[in-house]
Amino acid sequence: MNYEIKTFNYHSPEYKQALQLRDKILRKPLGLQFSEAELKKDEHDIHFGLFEEEKIVACLTLTKTDNGKMKMRQVAVYDTAQGKGLGSKLSVAAEEYAKENGYHTMFCHARKAASNFYLKLGYKIIGDEFTEVNIPHYEMEKRLA
Ligand SMILES: CC(C)(COP(=O)(O)OP(=O)(O)OC[C@H]1O[C@@H](n2cnc3c(N)ncnc32)[C@H](O)[C@@H]1OP(=O)(O)O)[C@@H](O)C(=O)NCCC(=O)NCCS
Repeated sequence: MNYEIKTFNYHSPEYKQALQLRDKILRKPLGLQFSEAELKKDEHDIHFGLFEEEKIVACLTLTKTDNGKMKMRQVAVYDTAQGKGLGSKLSVAAEEYAKENGYHTMFCHARKAASNFYLKLGYKIIGDEFTEVNIPHYEMEKRLA
């Protein structure tokens, strides 16, 4: 399978593809949609996509913090492409980017249902379960350095 991992800008054509993917995989199944305020948060973030022939298949977003930790969020793979290692490849590429840019830790608010995906990537559960977008989550983190 030929794929390309790249970053893209807020409001670029690739970003619009990513939003469709995020909406289909992360919001619609919960009966939710993105608010303006939520999307505004994307403006200063780093957006990653895995593309096959210019079509996005997987995406994630990185949010910088000022304590050496990078937050990974909005991790989604189209349902027909799940379970083929693409989410892992994209996450590892994002971890490498964060490390190269001086971040020592990656963290995320992982859906409990997806926590095994992060455990397999070497993340650890930090603290108690909490609710976000109406479903159970764990904070998970991985030391990069
Ligand atoms: C979770 C998700 C991003 C994983 O991406 P993926 O490309 O399907 O995962 P991979 O093929 O790289 O899987 C890597 C490992 O994690 C496991 N895994 C993947 N998705 C999982 C899930 N939802 N629950 C439990 N384990 C999972 C796989 O079994 C695999 O293990 P293996 O190497 O022993 O076979 C993707 O399935 C997805 O978009 N799911 C729906 C949205 C979602 O839950 N996003 C995460 C929000 S925190």
